[in-house]
Amino acid sequence: MNKRPKIIIKYAKSSDGFIGSSQKQVWLTNQYSKRLTHKWRSEIDGIVVGKNTVLLDNPNLTTRFGFGKSPIRIILGKSILIPNTFFVKNGIVNSIFWETHDIPKLLLDLKSRGLNTIMIEGGASIISEFLLQNLWDEARVFTVEKKIGNGIKAPKIDRNPINTHKILSDKLEIFKP
Ligand SMILES: NC(=O)c1ccc[n+]([C@@H]2O[C@H](COP(=O)([O-])OP(=O)(O)OC[C@H]3O[C@@H](n4cnc5c(N)ncnc54)[C@H](OP(=O)(O)O)[C@@H]3O)[C@@H](O)[C@H]2O)c1
Repeated sequence: MNKRPKIIIKYAKSSDGFIGSSQKQVWLTNQYSKRLTHKWRSEIDGIVVGKNTVLLDNPNLTTRFGFGKSPIRIILGKSILIPNTFFVKNGIVNSIFWETHDIPKLLLDLKSRGLNTIMIEGGASIISEFLLQNLWDEARVFTVEKKIGNGIKAPKIDRNPINTHKILSDKLEIFKP
């Protein structure tokens, strides 16, 4: 039996290679790609994000476009002071707050709680850490036509995709380790 959950990395990047801005939330993907992301969320047990993403984007991290169950939200970072008004505190689904940077330990803990598949949704630091430690089974990367100009660089996956799809103007590439 696998000791860790299956790990899917998912992110969107601008055509000039940024995942986001350090000052404000930037929407990248089109509505069809967003719906696909929500469908993927209904197929997994947990979503992992870093604290900067929560504080900057205040993401909902649910399947609110109508695709069944929402996964548990797992937020990584030390001394996380997230206002009670933020979506991750709304109690619609549980949120787990994880303070240490020890990813292998986190994965064992999630597996022991019955989480068999998780999706890592950002931001750049968290995704880069999973890639660096080679703790991933699949990556789903959207590239959009929009340019951001400056901001936080998107992680790089140094291999060719096994599949490429077009979702209107968005490109979706699937990578395997
Ligand atoms: N385009 C997309 O798909 C997408 C998705 C999500 C976010 N974003 C964007 O990404 C940006 C935020 O990314 P970010 O890189 O600044 O922040 P982040 O990855 O969201 O959070 C980073 C923080 O997580 C904590 N952390 C916990 N465990 C860690 C570990 N093992 N390794 C590294 N850090 C760990 C660290 O804080 P402590 O040291 O305090 O613990 C670190 O500062 C925003 O612009 C957001 O909009 C884009």
